[in-house]
Amino acid sequence: MSLSLFFSSLLMNPRKPPSMEANTLLLLSLALLSLICFSTSFSPTDNLLVNCGSNTNTSFTSTDSRIFVSDSTKQGPVSLSKGQSISLKNQNPSPNSPTLYSTARVFTTASSYQFNIKRNGTHLVRFHFSPFKAQGFDLSTAKFSILVNGNLLLSDFSTKVVVLKEYVFRVDSNALEILFSPVCKSSFGFVNAIEVFSAPKDFILDEGAKLVSANGIEVYKNLSSHVLETIHRINVGGSKLVPFNDTLWRTWIPDDDFLVLKSAAKRAVTTHVPNYQSGGASREIAPENVYMTAQQMNKDNNPLQSRFNITWNFPVGSGGVRHLVRLHFCDIVSTSLNQLYFDVYLNGYSAYNDLDLSSLTFHVLSSPMYFDFIVDSNDLGAVQVSIGPSAVSSLMKVNAILNGVEIMKMVNPSHLRNESKKRTVWIVAASSIGGFVLCLAVFVVILACKCKKKKPKPTRVESAGWTPLRVYGGSTHSRMSEVTVNEYRSLKIPFADVQLATNNFDNSLIIGSGGFGMVFKGVLKDNTKVAVKRGVPGSRQGLPEFQTEITVLSKIRHRHLVSLVGYCEEQAEMILVYEYMEKGPLKKHLYGPGCSHLSWKQRLEICIGAARGLHYLHTGSAQGIIHRDIKSTNILLDENYVAKVADFGLSRSGPCLDETHVSTGVKGSFGYLDPEYFRRQQLTDKSDVYSFGVVLLEVLCARPAVDPLLAREQVNLAEWAMQWQKKGILEQIIDPHLMGQIKQNSLKKFGETAEKCLADYGVDRPSMGDVLWNLEYALQLQESDSKSSREPRDDSNANAAELTTPRIAPQAPSINTETETDSGDGPSEIRNSQVFSQLMTNDGR
Ligand SMILES: *[C@@H]1O[C@H](CO)[C@@H](O)[C@H](O)[C@H]1NC(C)=O
Ligand SMILES: *[C@@H]1O[C@H](CO)[C@@H](O)[C@H](O)[C@H]1NC(C)=O
Ligand SMILES: *[C@@H]1O[C@H](CO)[C@@H](O)[C@H](O)[C@H]1NC(C)=O
Ligand SMILES: *[C@@H]1O[C@H](CO)[C@@H](O)[C@H](O)[C@H]1NC(C)=O
Ligand SMILES: *[C@@H]1O[C@H](CO)[C@@H](O)[C@H](O)[C@H]1NC(C)=O
Repeated sequence: MSLSLFFSSLLMNPRKPPSMEANTLLLLSLALLSLICFSTSFSPTDNLLVNCGSNTNTSFTSTDSRIFVSDSTKQGPVSLSKGQSISLKNQNPSPNSPTLYSTARVFTTASSYQFNIKRNGTHLVRFHFSPFKAQGFDLSTAKFSILVNGNLLLSDFSTKVVVLKEYVFRVDSNALEILFSPVCKSSFGFVNAIEVFSAPKDFILDEGAKLVSANGIEVYKNLSSHVLETIHRINVGGSKLVPFNDTLWRTWIPDDDFLVLKSAAKRAVTTHVPNYQSGGASREIAPENVYMTAQQMNKDNNPLQSRFNITWNFPVGSGGVRHLVRLHFCDIVSTSLNQLYFDVYLNGYSAYNDLDLSSLTFHVLSSPMYFDFIVDSNDLGAVQVSIGPSAVSSLMKVNAILNGVEIMKMVNPSHLRNESKKRTVWIVAASSIGGFVLCLAVFVVILACKCKKKKPKPTRVESAGWTPLRVYGGSTHSRMSEVTVNEYRSLKIPFADVQLATNNFDNSLIIGSGGFGMVFKGVLKDNTKVAVKRGVPGSRQGLPEFQTEITVLSKIRHRHLVSLVGYCEEQAEMILVYEYMEKGPLKKHLYGPGCSHLSWKQRLEICIGAARGLHYLHTGSAQGIIHRDIKSTNILLDENYVAKVADFGLSRSGPCLDETHVSTGVKGSFGYLDPEYFRRQQLTDKSDVYSFGVVLLEVLCARPAVDPLLAREQVNLAEWAMQWQKKGILEQIIDPHLMGQIKQNSLKKFGETAEKCLADYGVDRPSMGDVLWNLEYALQLQESDSKSSREPRDDSNANAAELTTPRIAPQAPSINTETETDSGDGPSEIRNSQVFSQLMTNDGR
């Protein structure tokens, strides 16, 4: 294909303009092609859809009307060809589960389907697994491998949840045999539905892919000879797309959960249908909806010319495995041609410099384009995609976009063929002779094979790994060196246990992601629920932060701080295991879908809890710890809505001070950062106080610290709310759900406290102890009987006198400066001395 060759040459020399003749020629052929290729919807030559274990034909869902044909039909292009299998029907299917999933074929011995293929070439093959229990079979206990024409596709697979596995590979024969092979005699395999259909022409091109590695960029050939397994398919900046929305019945999911720094990205959406052109992407490569949304750099509240990357981390399971990364682009953000120049990075390696979509799409805006890259997953089993402005982009037009991402694991066929032959022989032997012992022997053999194969790796892993914990040597941390090494040794958790707890880092268990990596929900052997944070190298927070977190956390136990259950440092892994917080981040309860409209009292108690935790960090026995990243997502709630501060330690060793661009980017978009930090380049405990002030406003107003979608003056919560506070009409912007619930005095106290936290200069801000005291007081004002003659006065100048009088504050607010394991309800010490001095001097500001 001359066009794809032309593109390859462009790809190789992105700065070299195409020659005039080539241009004219292309435009001509384009015009011709667009006439010829006027596309209708895609209809594959081979289109074999099987409803396994059922004797009826059924469609998948009400919107995906493709008919899946019963596998009991004797003649036809699909047949059961060998082995023993039975049909299984779910007697109690859940009402919203598709009919297709209410039956399954169960393979009690190695058995296969044969598919007759009409056309050689790339095919898509999908397996649907939806385990259920029937007739003594519990499909969630099935364990089996799948081989296709003798090649191992999926090994030792089992699932407890609904799973769709998709593969893309060439079929160069008239028949496709799909063999389901139970791992041992007592086991079995199953499948609910299978799709085998021809891929569109040029779906996987042999030329054009680029191998990206530490050695730079190389051309990658013969891509279509590989078996590809789809791991992620992401509609960046968009919503979930279901098979009905896609030309090839694919599912695309949103990217939000993979963004390392959500505030770096901003959605772009267009209503204009993209201009598909020959030579670029087709509707079959990705549907319109993928190209009509994107993420771009979030420049709200940032200097327009600030430069930073948007980064996504996609977990792929294991490290050092080769993947095809298909990136989709469509310039829906530029107002004219050649405005946008950006760079693309994979796992931190440059993949494409100065990408100029305008020139690649023959000077048509909103024209879909895609690139194939090949990259090895990093040591922590992730593929990291970053985009950022190019050095050549003009100062005022700094931007970068991404519309879609597909990540496919590359399965090396020749390598697999050897292994699969060996295995098949053993499996056959095992099932013919039978018996437990042989089955066990097979396992041993397989294990031995696997171990042998892995042999060369450990050296690399060891060198990439980090030496066992050295005590962090920063000046402020020197007191940490007294922490005995044994103390955190005892927190060590074997990697195998972590894998078990998280079902081998099952994507469905991801509960969050951050600068450090992914967070999974897990259950340890002793049934403790935990949150497992798995680090990704190259992320903003790396090794020193990891070690700091362990050093700091192993030392600290406090009712209002999330505690560390353990950590894992095997195999170059950096994993932290925390107590699981049932109700998740505070933010989730304040606004957005499913928020719980907490009462004012609950909110005050949560703020008090968080303040207590923070106060302990600042002044407790582990003294002098600055959190540096206080925000509503770092305050977590347990099942009883008790607030606990999370993620401290990670931020204390100055994560991104050297990344100046990020720091500037951080300012506005975070909305939590101490403005004084920019003057003095130094974070103090008063920086935490500032951030906490922003959280207080978030709690009161139920909106994000920064909301780029609002009118300019409302974007930054702290600035906006303080305008209302200073006019004395803060009540006009509170969460509507709190209307009529907050007592005037309580609100006034709360507003003043937030205002003081947000003072421009750190010295003018109260200490966390003072903040805590004030919040407790706001709670008492709320709780106090309004008819009581002793209703506290709301004159703030009188507060100091009143507050120090126990009469007014009947239960003296307790401030923990001491206890480590204490619940925070124990003996208290009120530091009356300076409690309100600052508040008083600041009055009237
Ligand atoms: C299902 O569809 C196949 C192919 O279209 C057809 O041959 C078969 O008769 C149908 N079976 C039933 C039960 O409708
Ligand atoms: C597909 O390729 C195989 C081997 O290359 C060949 O034997 C077969 O005839 C081809 N089938 C079709 C339909 O072209
Ligand atoms: C790529 O495929 C071509 C033709 O199919 C073959 O001649 C060549 O050896 C292959 N190259 C590699 C690196 O596998
Ligand atoms: C996707 O398909 C569903 C029907 O299943 C439809 O309701 C929805 O609007 C479609 N989404 C888009 C973006 O076209
Ligand atoms: C973006 O990330 C790459 C790779 O990690 C890095 O080399 C580059 O400097 C970053 N660019 C910006 C503007 O932060």
